[in-house]
Amino acid sequence: MSQVTLYHGDGISLLKSIPAETVQVVHFDGPYGMEFRSNRRATRKGSIANDRHAQARELHCNAFPEVKRILLPGGSWFVWTQLAARNCWSVAPLIVASTPNKTGRRDTEHELQYEGMITWNKVHWGTGWTWRRQSEQCLHFFKPDSNGAPTFTRSNLPDVISYPRMTIGEDEHAAEKPTKVINHLLNPTTEMGCLVVDPVMGHGVAVEVAWRLGCQVIGGDIELESVETTAERLTRLGASVTVEAL
Ligand SMILES: C[S@@+](CC[C@H](N)C(=O)[O-])C[C@H]1O[C@@H](n2cnc3c(N)ncnc32)[C@H](O)[C@@H]1O
Repeated sequence: MSQVTLYHGDGISLLKSIPAETVQVVHFDGPYGMEFRSNRRATRKGSIANDRHAQARELHCNAFPEVKRILLPGGSWFVWTQLAARNCWSVAPLIVASTPNKTGRRDTEHELQYEGMITWNKVHWGTGWTWRRQSEQCLHFFKPDSNGAPTFTRSNLPDVISYPRMTIGEDEHAAEKPTKVINHLLNPTTEMGCLVVDPVMGHGVAVEVAWRLGCQVIGGDIELESVETTAERLTRLGASVTVEAL
């Protein structure tokens, strides 16, 4: 039976508390470093914690060694960003640190490697006055298995998924993503019973998707409101949920 355990506290401390090589997938939709404040929507939302560029960069860099430590060989790390927008390059050090060896071929050392990127086409463009952003990107890193590859159970998936962005009301997180988009990532990279971790979960979209796939799930967020909303969301679905403070 899948268990959901949610923590209120710092995501890096949560990652540090997890034993080495126990996690199949880490989903990480942290702050992009753009000081996002959803005030153009019907419901005004405050800014996202740690969303200054330097803070977001530090969070991603601090996550890197911990994710490398806790992933099982073959395990995946998904990191969301919006590469087309300025200030979203807090993820750049991760790509540099995980680019494959000199030949570009896969190697079998148990390091974190950059595999590629999945683009979410949000169908309609957003606000702004130059290029109005219509996409977000999810970087895919993995810890090589004995063949130097990630665990992947499908072979026919596109690297672009088109799906309209969420309508943000009272109940949604300011940066919430549709479950269908997250399922595109977790479905081919998890197996029933494996452990999925989201240390910056917001309102728990990835927690829900992982639970629906039959995974054990650990989620966390620095905002108590996010932890409470995720707990309610999963309990409503019938999940067994435990909430703890870090
Ligand atoms: C982009 S939002 C996540 C949205 C989420 N994927 C969803 O669909 O609802 C980023 C989240 O990271 C959280 N966060 C920021 N800094 C954090 C930290 N140091 N530890 C844990 N959570 C953090 C924020 O509170 C926010 O909920």
